[in-house]
Amino acid sequence: MALNQMTVVAVIGAGAMGAGIAEVAARARHHVLLFDTVVGVAEKARAGIADRFRRAIQKGNMTEQEAASIITRIEPVAALNGVARAGLVIEAIVEAVEPKHVLFKALEGLVGEEAVLATNTSSLSVTQLGSVLTKPQRFLGLHFFNPAPIMALVEVISGIQTPKALADEATGLMRAWGKEPVQCRSTPGFIVNRIARPYYGEAVRLLEEGVATPATIDALMMEAGGFRIGPFGLMDLVGLDVNLAANTGVWQGLGQDPRYAPTVIQREMAASGNLGRKTGRGYYDYEEGAKRPEPATAAPAARPAKVALRGEAGVTAPLIARARDAGVTIDTLAGPPALVIDGHALALSDGRPAALRYAADLGRPAVLFDHARNFATATRIAIAPAPQAEPAALGAAIGFFQALGIAVSVVGDSAGLVVLRTLAMAANEGVVALEAGVCGPSDVDLAMEKGTNWPEGPLAWGVRVGLDVVLEAMEHMAATTGSDRYRPSMLLRRAAVQGVGLDRALVRFA
Ligand code: NAI
Repeated sequence: MALNQMTVVAVIGAGAMGAGIAEVAARARHHVLLFDTVVGVAEKARAGIADRFRRAIQKGNMTEQEAASIITRIEPVAALNGVARAGLVIEAIVEAVEPKHVLFKALEGLVGEEAVLATNTSSLSVTQLGSVLTKPQRFLGLHFFNPAPIMALVEVISGIQTPKALADEATGLMRAWGKEPVQCRSTPGFIVNRIARPYYGEAVRLLEEGVATPATIDALMMEAGGFRIGPFGLMDLVGLDVNLAANTGVWQGLGQDPRYAPTVIQREMAASGNLGRKTGRGYYDYEEGAKRPEPATAAPAARPAKVALRGEAGVTAPLIARARDAGVTIDTLAGPPALVIDGHALALSDGRPAALRYAADLGRPAVLFDHARNFATATRIAIAPAPQAEPAALGAAIGFFQALGIAVSVVGDSAGLVVLRTLAMAANEGVVALEAGVCGPSDVDLAMEKGTNWPEGPLAWGVRVGLDVVLEAMEHMAATTGSDRYRPSMLLRRAAVQGVGLDRALVRFA
């Protein structure tokens, strides 16, 4: 079953994904057989690709010859038995077990003994889909992302019966197709759909808890978190029904673990029929003339007169440097880490709400500020005052960040605020995936960077800020909320011990 450039590739189902996969394979110089049960759909898919190529030619991004040779390599076939000569079949039909089982059984009787059968399923068990075959050892998942010609990531998914050699061979083929493949085990959500859960899950919880509005949370995740699109904007884009289905699938598949539980607000929104951009309304209104709500942004406050750094700067060192660059004189003081702004303590969130921090620390951090992925470039920050703090403390904190050119969103006092809470949960989830043998450390980060355009993998972020910082945030969030959702993974606990790290902590005997 050697997969190489000579392999004839068949794509079954010529919808959004099938058409894209056919194009990717044809671009990689394979002859591609394209089949769809609905008459004319395969031809239409090929014509759609040709249309896009014409626009690319007009823009000078492609030559006529290139376009023509790719298009001629895509051959629509009128009946399933037209794919009999394929050496690799990629299924991209409706997302349901029964029709996929029927298809794979039929394919097994058609194609040669050595042909490889693959599914593009985004949510079903690859093991279950392959279980109907007499030879499940020829079966695996090749999960492309939408749009397939643009998104670099392909999750190469092994079912229980997929031999490692086949996964490796398919991985090599995906590289030859110009893709960035990652290998993972058939598990709910695979890599991307699992590790992306906290990005949405924490956002909807923050909304339910009244910590901030969707517009504020989105602005913070973009301007402080460095993401290209905020969680609510992304849910509206994907479709609230599609997002809820993916969420529910992972939650059910992983034993209804509270880590993945959908929230009331998610279910209510989906039930309302306002499903996002496709229906004109979701968390935001997309009707013509509708005004996008603004994020909460603090009004200008006075520039602080006296700023001191108490204790070590740690991960906030770039913020201190930025303050100095902005002409703020910073004295140093001994004591528990905080900034002291005109006599008021401003401390980086460690996962505890400001109210508890105020009570627990003799240093009285009056106002907490959230993490930013990069304090040197962040343009917005979340802050939360402790209920016990004097009103002047809030103004001092706002004035400090504004002096640095950073917009301030005042949010509700909460566990982990917005960015820390989300990133810590995503990093922990990455570690949980490693612990569960879903994939390897580099696969987690590559998958999130290439499959969802995250600016940095969650493990890379966790290692950069310190696994001990992530662990502490998780422990504090778990203690404050009393929810198992925030429990740190066992592997994170072991890896966060001084000097151990993920590589040494991650020892698997299976
Ligand atoms: P789609 O609805 O755009 O296309 C499915 C096509 O399959 C339709 O043209 C339909 O006529 C055809 N079809 C249905 N049953 C068939 C059969 N038995 N034999 C041949 N053709 C058949 O769906 P889409 O979005 O392309 O999804 C296809 C698969 O890819 C699903 O398993 C989905 O979960 C997966 N997927 C979808 C992604 C997305 O963003 N849309 C991303 C990654 C995977």
